[in-house]
Amino acid sequence: MTQAPQAPLASVFPAPTNGNSFSYTQEQSEYIDKLRKGSYDFQWLNDPRPTWGIRSKMKNPDRGLTLQDINNAYAGIPEDAPEYRTMAPRGAVHDPDVPDMGYQYNQKYQVWADNVVALYEEACARQWSATRDIPWDGLKTLPDDVERAVCQIATLLTEVEMIASDFPAKWLWQMNQHFHEVKMFLCTQAMDEARHLEVFRKRALANGGGLMRCLTGTEMFLKTILHAPTYIQGSFLMHVLGEGLVLDIFRSGEFLARTKTDQEIFRLCMQDEARHVSYGTMHLKYFLEHHPEREKAIAEMHQLAELAEMGIPGFLTNPFIIEPLAVLMGNGVDGIDKGMEAVRLVWVRMREEYLNRCELAGFDRRSVTKVPVEAPF
Ligand SMILES: [Fe+2]
Ligand SMILES: [Fe+2]
Repeated sequence: MTQAPQAPLASVFPAPTNGNSFSYTQEQSEYIDKLRKGSYDFQWLNDPRPTWGIRSKMKNPDRGLTLQDINNAYAGIPEDAPEYRTMAPRGAVHDPDVPDMGYQYNQKYQVWADNVVALYEEACARQWSATRDIPWDGLKTLPDDVERAVCQIATLLTEVEMIASDFPAKWLWQMNQHFHEVKMFLCTQAMDEARHLEVFRKRALANGGGLMRCLTGTEMFLKTILHAPTYIQGSFLMHVLGEGLVLDIFRSGEFLARTKTDQEIFRLCMQDEARHVSYGTMHLKYFLEHHPEREKAIAEMHQLAELAEMGIPGFLTNPFIIEPLAVLMGNGVDGIDKGMEAVRLVWVRMREEYLNRCELAGFDRRSVTKVPVEAPF
């Protein structure tokens, strides 16, 4: 049985001490006496509020009141290192003895990205339903080899998508609430990925196929992300590298999809995935630009990247990944050679897009990466 957290609760809600009847604290008793006499505290009403009178303006009334709008009006720029570790909203007045929430990430460079506020708004505006917004009735019976290829890819995606819910959820509570926009964005990412798991699981089970094979190598990569010792390391592995590769698959959706249903699945997932990759890339940039020991941080990230990049050739020489992709691109096993030509292009593009993301973050991997420019097959 779970033990109740006795000590913290007892300090907030003192246990009754007078037999079975409720005992009020001295402060509560005094306030109750005042209330009985019709006298109110009104401290909350009379406290001086130097920031009172704020009226956030909608930049675009058609869009509504955005986070950018309220940030423009008040307390919109987080401090680099907030003094308190509290859930009190940024810019609110709080008691000086508020408890320490135990946050581990209390510096802006450890979590921030300059595009995170806009990405949160976009995420909220573009939520969709895997039940309602996919034209499931557009599915049609496919040749067995093609359905197997779809289901193998759908199984892989069902397997990997949820890492991008688990990983942010693991770090979320450790981030200071002063950076609430980052936490809110990561909540949208967790929801996006739950929906991605849902949509690919549904796809695998909706058209006469089924769930197929999961591989140890994939699980090892997911474990590396989940158990990365720091947020930046896991974020690089997941947002910049792993989700970048998945985004490139979604971008190929037009060539992979054999039904309208599959096309819409890839299109909608691509929108979501692009946000996640965008946050990770801009977070890496912010991290490297603002780290107090910048040179050391860059050197450490290069060490990580050198190892992590081996994931690209690993991903693209895995028969359970590239053969189904080639079958889909070639429209059947008979067209696999033609499909493999497209996979070779995917190799070049995945490497290029990854290097571009690093470049955007001010992290030069292009001059040092060992990932071959072209596919070795
Ligand atoms: Fe995803
Ligand atoms: Fe994602």
